[in-house]
Amino acid sequence: MKTPVRARRRSAGVVSSGRGSGGVVSPGRRSGGTQFCGQDPALAVSGLRKTYGGRVVLDIEELAVSRGEVFVVVGPSGAGKTTLLRLLAALEEPDAGEVRLGDLFRKAGQAGSSRRPGGPSSLRSPGRPGPDVVWRRRLAFVAQHPVLFSGTVLENVTLGLRLRGVAPTVARDRALAVLAELGLGDLAAAHVFGLSAGEAQRVALARALVTDPVALLLDEPTANLDPANAAAVERAVRRAVGGRGLAALIVTHDLFQARRLADRAALLVQGRIVETGEACRLFERPRDPRTAAFVRGEMIL
Ligand SMILES: Nc1ncnc2c1ncn2[C@@H]1O[C@H](COP(=O)(O)OP(=O)(O)O)[C@@H](O)[C@H]1O
Ligand SMILES: [Mg+2]
Repeated sequence: MKTPVRARRRSAGVVSSGRGSGGVVSPGRRSGGTQFCGQDPALAVSGLRKTYGGRVVLDIEELAVSRGEVFVVVGPSGAGKTTLLRLLAALEEPDAGEVRLGDLFRKAGQAGSSRRPGGPSSLRSPGRPGPDVVWRRRLAFVAQHPVLFSGTVLENVTLGLRLRGVAPTVARDRALAVLAELGLGDLAAAHVFGLSAGEAQRVALARALVTDPVALLLDEPTANLDPANAAAVERAVRRAVGGRGLAALIVTHDLFQARRLADRAALLVQGRIVETGEACRLFERPRDPRTAAFVRGEMIL
């Protein structure tokens, strides 16, 4: 028995978007201000801080994800995982800090993004998309409960390309290729109302991947799926990241999923990263007692 998905017209900025085409310009060395460490990461965070009502819910000193890498942030409910992704996706404004996405930089207190590290927002000009749109088009964010709009699977997957001005036949070919890659080729003409939760999740992933993003952000990608569907989504994620050289940042409370997917991982507790490392080292030989407790399945407050 298939579970119907919520189907409603999507609102701009809530669902995934990505870059239309072209490569990422490699940034030069930063001349001042915050330094991003690591080897030319596709996605990097520095001094990122978010408060709600005066309460600090996220405070991350440093985090970087390279191309072709799956980085999993694992942590208990309320740790700040979704907040992190929403900040990275430019759906929330940070109180402090800076995020880098390819050659774009987004800084607290400066609306939008800049190509010049530390420079003013400079991407807006008449007739061109604003800086937040430029930013969101470079990454794909798949929310925990992705919203598909009423229509066919193919229409959902081609929408992002059509909004970027891609010719309908080209958009169709690209969408069909991604659907085939995710094992959804037979469902291209199906209406989204009839999809199972696992199929809907993969359609959301297809919609994210078709726009050729620099980075893929996934929020609890299999939280509501049975093990077989969860495994299908995980396989699709791994293949998509490896094949495209994407930087993938996945957040989950599911330790087992983190172990299966992560190249590197971090434990987030109460908005702060407790420990980061190669996934096998982190999970098998945790250094911090809180990581050890989380790995043992003990509750962390
Ligand atoms: N819009 C908001 N307003 C106020 N508090 C929020 C808001 N969004 C999240 N929070 C709070 O921030 C903390 C982190 O939430 P969230 O990022 O959703 O955690 P997680 O995804 O790890 O479960 C929680 O205490 C949550 O209640
Ligand atoms: Mg969450």
